[in-house]
Amino acid sequence: MCGIIGYSGHENAADKLIHALTSLEYRGYDSAGVTLFAENGTVTLKKQGRLKNLQQLLADNPIASVCGIGHTRWATHGKPSDDNAHPHVSGKVSLVHNGIIENYADIRRDLERDGAVFLSDTDTESAVKLLDDAYRQTGEPLSAIRQTCEQLTGSYAFAIVFADINGKVFGVRRGSPLIAAYGQDGNFVASDITAVLWDTRRYISLDENEIAAVTNDGIVVTDFDGKAVAKETKTAEWDSESAEKGGFPHFMLKEIHEEAESVGRTVAAHIKDGLPDFQSCGLSRQFLSKLKSVTIAACGTAMHAGLVGKTVTERLAGIPVRVEVASEFRYGSVFLEEGDLFVAVSQSGETADTLAALDIAKQHGARTLGIVNAAGSALSREADGVFLTMAGPEISVASTKAYGVQLAALYLLAIATAEAKGKLSSEDARLFTQTLLTEIPSKISEVVSRESEIRTLASDFMNAKSVFFIGRGLDCALSYEGSLKLKEISYIHSESYAAGEMKHGTISLIEENTPVVAVATQPELFTKTISNIREVKARGANVLLICPANFPNADIADTVFNIPATSELFTPFTAVTALQLFAYHMAELRGRDIDKPRNLAKSVTVE
Ligand code: F6R
Repeated sequence: MCGIIGYSGHENAADKLIHALTSLEYRGYDSAGVTLFAENGTVTLKKQGRLKNLQQLLADNPIASVCGIGHTRWATHGKPSDDNAHPHVSGKVSLVHNGIIENYADIRRDLERDGAVFLSDTDTESAVKLLDDAYRQTGEPLSAIRQTCEQLTGSYAFAIVFADINGKVFGVRRGSPLIAAYGQDGNFVASDITAVLWDTRRYISLDENEIAAVTNDGIVVTDFDGKAVAKETKTAEWDSESAEKGGFPHFMLKEIHEEAESVGRTVAAHIKDGLPDFQSCGLSRQFLSKLKSVTIAACGTAMHAGLVGKTVTERLAGIPVRVEVASEFRYGSVFLEEGDLFVAVSQSGETADTLAALDIAKQHGARTLGIVNAAGSALSREADGVFLTMAGPEISVASTKAYGVQLAALYLLAIATAEAKGKLSSEDARLFTQTLLTEIPSKISEVVSRESEIRTLASDFMNAKSVFFIGRGLDCALSYEGSLKLKEISYIHSESYAAGEMKHGTISLIEENTPVVAVATQPELFTKTISNIREVKARGANVLLICPANFPNADIADTVFNIPATSELFTPFTAVTALQLFAYHMAELRGRDIDKPRNLAKSVTVE
């Protein structure tokens, strides 16, 4: 999604903005731009494509400035182009925007009727034109901003400068995240803290309907009634080193290498007396003991983690778990009532669809838990209880270590619920918790240490046009994730299927040499999966089997990757690491832009 930065300080603003925008590249973007204060007012430069295009433009048009705003755009309204890139300018106002203005078309129609000329196809330009009108009328920036926001529907965050107010950047939060940060030689507004970690870790989170006025010597926050708001200054736990590549060619590879430690750290932070601790997340043992069902809502990779959580919870605690694609949640019937647990899973904590599902769950009176990696995010603020995962910043668009820690959180919840309900003895619950704490991280590391083996297996498939993933039970849930990872970064078409479902239609696509990745980690399902592997082999498939060493008949596959031995309940942790590395090397062998795959955004803050 789009990235926002604003700076007011004593140093070269263009350098500061570009540095921050580079740090925000991971969010995904297709154009970039800046507005800088120059000698007589402001200058706006923007360019479609990668940041280097904007840097070239700045090199050709050097501007000595100590204040400005910048943006990386991920197209929603209007194609990627120079005209649609932000900042958008009208009169004295220059503005960058994250999120969506839902009533932009009505505003535009009214303004065009009155003679306004629009230069872009964006929803943003309606906002900047309204603000320009308001500023002409009021001559006062804060009331003009408030007046404009009252006319806009949707969710958005803005950074704004007014050409006649040199040295001041305004940031507004209404539905989309925004922070303000105290830098070393000036101050910032930004869409998230990773934008400025290279300069500072001291920041404040803006709440809904707050406006930050940022100058070189301070940050003043006011609400929509014009009252000053005292904000707590926080220190980001994440440092700049953890948001940099650290010698790895890509963030994705670095983050896979961090998965084991992230899982261990997450488990360690949520254990008390050897058992999972959910009391601190607002879920008492008594509440868990009475739980009749759980609903999990999430998107993409987080939703896939939910599918594994479903199987594990149902198996251990014996209660039904529904996993909902968050973007669909509002269209189906909602079976939630007081006393039910609703779990929203999200790395960023800012995914609009997941937040919308959370809102519905709250309206139905469910107890809500957010499993979230970003402290201070909307999910962490809006859920009744928060389980903070400890993956650290995940920069690569493709989620890897965040999936691992989401699994860890869901396993702990399953163990805690099963123990509270008396379905699992305290001894077994302790044993499982200990396994998650020590054995699983070390087994994940073992898989990572065999990376070159996986690269060789990937090279066998690198020219594939389409890859199928099959598995049963837990392995089916894993296959979804393996397939998603592969397609999003390698751009190879891929589908994942319950292994037994292939023969009901999709097997018609299997022909000589079609790659099939079969995931088989559950001993009680080995025989059945063997039959499904035989079915695709009989039609010419080239099968890579991911299984533990005790899999019988591994020779039916063309190639095999043995995951380390663990209790079968915990195989998703190691199998997924293998699948992530497989996707990574397929993409790398094909020369893809791994950390910033086309069309994708890291944090999807639009519905
Ligand atoms: C895939 C991926 C996405 C996210 C999804 C939800 O690699 O990263 O599918 O998992 O957009 O994002 P969060 O977890 O931030 O809610």
